[in-house]
Amino acid sequence: MRTVEERLALLDEVVSEAASRGLAMQTADDAPLDGRTISLAGRERINFGSCSYLGLEMDARLREGVYEATARYGTQFSSSRAYVSAPPYVELEAHLDRMFGGHALMLPTTSLGHLAALPVLVGSRDAVILDQQVHASVQVAVGQLRLQGTTVEMIRHNRIDRLERMLGRLASKHRRIWYLADGVYSMFADFAPFAELRELLGSYEQLHLYIDDSHGVGWAGTHGRGPALEALGMHERLVVAASLNKSFAAAGGALVFPDAELRRRVRTTGGPMIFSGPVQPPMLGAALASARIHLSDELPVRQQALRERIALFDELAEEFCIPLATHDVTPIRYVPLGLPRVVLDVVEGLLEDGFYTNYGAFPAVPMKHAGVRMTLTLHHRPDDIRALVASLARRVPEALDRGGDSARRKAGVTRQNARRPLRGGTELDGERGPAAIALTVRGDYAVVQLDEVLGDREAQAEAGLIRSRSVAPPPTPDGKVRIVEIVGLDRQACGGTHLASTGGSPPIRILKIDNKGRHNRRVRIGLSK
Ligand SMILES: Cc1ncc(COP(=O)(O)O)c(C=O)c1O
Repeated sequence: MRTVEERLALLDEVVSEAASRGLAMQTADDAPLDGRTISLAGRERINFGSCSYLGLEMDARLREGVYEATARYGTQFSSSRAYVSAPPYVELEAHLDRMFGGHALMLPTTSLGHLAALPVLVGSRDAVILDQQVHASVQVAVGQLRLQGTTVEMIRHNRIDRLERMLGRLASKHRRIWYLADGVYSMFADFAPFAELRELLGSYEQLHLYIDDSHGVGWAGTHGRGPALEALGMHERLVVAASLNKSFAAAGGALVFPDAELRRRVRTTGGPMIFSGPVQPPMLGAALASARIHLSDELPVRQQALRERIALFDELAEEFCIPLATHDVTPIRYVPLGLPRVVLDVVEGLLEDGFYTNYGAFPAVPMKHAGVRMTLTLHHRPDDIRALVASLARRVPEALDRGGDSARRKAGVTRQNARRPLRGGTELDGERGPAAIALTVRGDYAVVQLDEVLGDREAQAEAGLIRSRSVAPPPTPDGKVRIVEIVGLDRQACGGTHLASTGGSPPIRILKIDNKGRHNRRVRIGLSK
């Protein structure tokens, strides 16, 4: 077991090494952001490191929410919520109640949510069992429970058999036993074992669950309530922590309680509810706009479009034999490679190829489980994902070769199979164009008519919205331009009739592409029966 000093020294070493290679502690270049790309050290890269999974951070409605709230309430409402809350809280928490199907309480961050809730929920004579990989923010908050004398135990990751054994051991001594876990684990991207947890809730009346579903909220579940609440339902012995900082594209955290009284107690006595400041009006405005989208019919369309990107990534990863830590369907993909130096080598290579990804290393993951962490969002085009996998397919074997036998051993790869399963990227690169179009149709991406309507001048000003170069779009009775979007992929002025999803078209083949000058191509397509 390492001392605190040794752990900090190790962390310093890993982060400093990554920082010196331009892979950590970076600041994006000062250029407008579009969600899909990020500019670092003077070069634009495709951003595979954002947790804004639904791509809402660039949405006009959220921006408008920020402007409106700022115009009405100012940049700041500087008062503890223990005294008085800014006006948008009422509507926002009501929306969150509907979204989550429980009693929601907003907090400035999820970490502060844990610090507020856990000492109120868990008594000194209760017991707490932590999943070994429960998020660091939960583990920090558990420090308060240790100080108040609560028994704290830890089990190996997702080992329900061990959890059950420990429940049996603790049941005679404690009135309540809390299991603290993540809904979606932020590095390896696996789910908590919800089905087994539901069974345990049925068998052990003393069992209470506290699930941090920060990475699950928004992109999964009815109204985006996340996989934990979707699988478990709002149970009387369940409390869920959520984040509005990730898929929700706003700021703050939320706690969801099964009853109003529990919410009231945390609201009135949870430490940070008293001594810490609130979420400020501009972000409350963004959160309100995001909550409205979550409660609308648009959300399932976005969720489906994201699942399609995940499926495309997994299909390609399988084809190119790129190992994944887990195959649970989440927008986080983790390629475990073992040694941190191999991972840094790969992440550096990916950056060189134009892809920004995250390295996963100690202490976020156990020592010998370093890996490449990539997050998929609705900003990514299928071609971005194809090109990323092509780059991985080239960079991973190269880094393992450079790392030698020890690197291959830690990655679970033998010398014989190190190269064979990972095909080079050129085949994928060569597929671009015709194959990309064919795959898009096969991918069945939703085509939606947005509520958004632009004036003619605004529409002309948005690059790529009006595609015809010499022909004006047909006039509309109100002079407005309606917009259709292949969600996350393409956005165009509506030309009239369109399919509900790209899969509504029979599979297509590109028969011929004629070059018709600098700007134009004539594409002849064939439709299969
Ligand atoms: C699972 C999980 N919980 C909590 C947090 C902390 O959230 P916040 O920044 O709102 O404190 C994170 C941050 O990434 C997280 O991944």
